[in-house]
Amino acid sequence: MVYYTAMRFIVTAGPTREHLDPVRFLSNPSTGRMGFAVARAARAAGHAVTLVAGPVALKTPPGVRRIDVVSARDMLAAVRAEVADADVLVMTAAVADWRPARRAKSKLKKGEMPDTLKLVRNPDILKSMRGPRVRIGFAAETGLPDAEAARKCREKGLDLVVGNDVTRPGSGFGTTTNRVSLVTPDGSVRHLPLMSKLAVAHRIVAFAERIASDG
Ligand code: PMT
Repeated sequence: MVYYTAMRFIVTAGPTREHLDPVRFLSNPSTGRMGFAVARAARAAGHAVTLVAGPVALKTPPGVRRIDVVSARDMLAAVRAEVADADVLVMTAAVADWRPARRAKSKLKKGEMPDTLKLVRNPDILKSMRGPRVRIGFAAETGLPDAEAARKCREKGLDLVVGNDVTRPGSGFGTTTNRVSLVTPDGSVRHLPLMSKLAVAHRIVAFAERIASDG
C-alpha cells in the first residue's frame, strides 16, 4: 500500500498583466482554468493549497487559500513569500516574459504614445524557486511541445513539465479540456489523451505525491 501524507501546494494560475499605463497592458489569453483545476484536485486529495492567481474571473475552489496578483513581479513576490514551507510548486500561470520598460502613472495621451515599445525581461519565477521538494512547470507551445518541454525540464531543474500544444482543438487557453504530455528529467514523454482539465490536474497531483513519497 502507498501512503501519502498531506503536503502544502503552491499553484499559480492565469495570465499576468504588464502595464504600460493604468489602462493598457501586455498579456495573454489564459483564463486560469488549468491552474484552478490543479488547486481543486490538490485540495480534494487532502493537501493544503495556496493559489496565486493573475487576473481571472473564476471562483476560488472550496478550502483553497487565494492570493490575487497582477504582474509577473507581483507573482514572484507572492510565490517567494509562500514558498519557504511548501512541498510542491505547480506553475500553470502564463507569466509574461517581458514588460514595458516604463510604466506611466496616468493614462498616456495618443500624442505621448511611443511608436515602438521598449521591453525588459521579467524574472523567471519557476527557475528561481529552488525550495520545494517537487517543482512542476508547464510548456505552452504552438506546435509539438515535447522537445521544448524537455529543454525546460533540464534547464529549470524540474521534476515534471506538462507540455501543452495550445493550437490543438480542445487544448490550451480557455478550454475546459486539455491534451498534454508529461515530460520527466530522464527524457521520458507520456502523451495523455484529450481529457478534462480536472482529470489532467488529478494526474499532476498524483505525480507530485509519487515523487514526494519516493523521497
Ligand atoms: O489558464 P487556461 O486558460 O486554462 O490555459 C492554460 C494554459 C495554456 C495557460 C496552461 O496549460 C499552460 O500551458 N501554462 C504555461 C504557460 C506558459 O507561460 O508557458 P511557458 O512555456 O512560457 O513557461 C514555462 C514555465 O515557466 C511555465 O510553468 C511558466 O509558469 C513558468 N514561467 C514562465 C515565465 C516566467 N517569467 N516565469 C515562469 O515561472
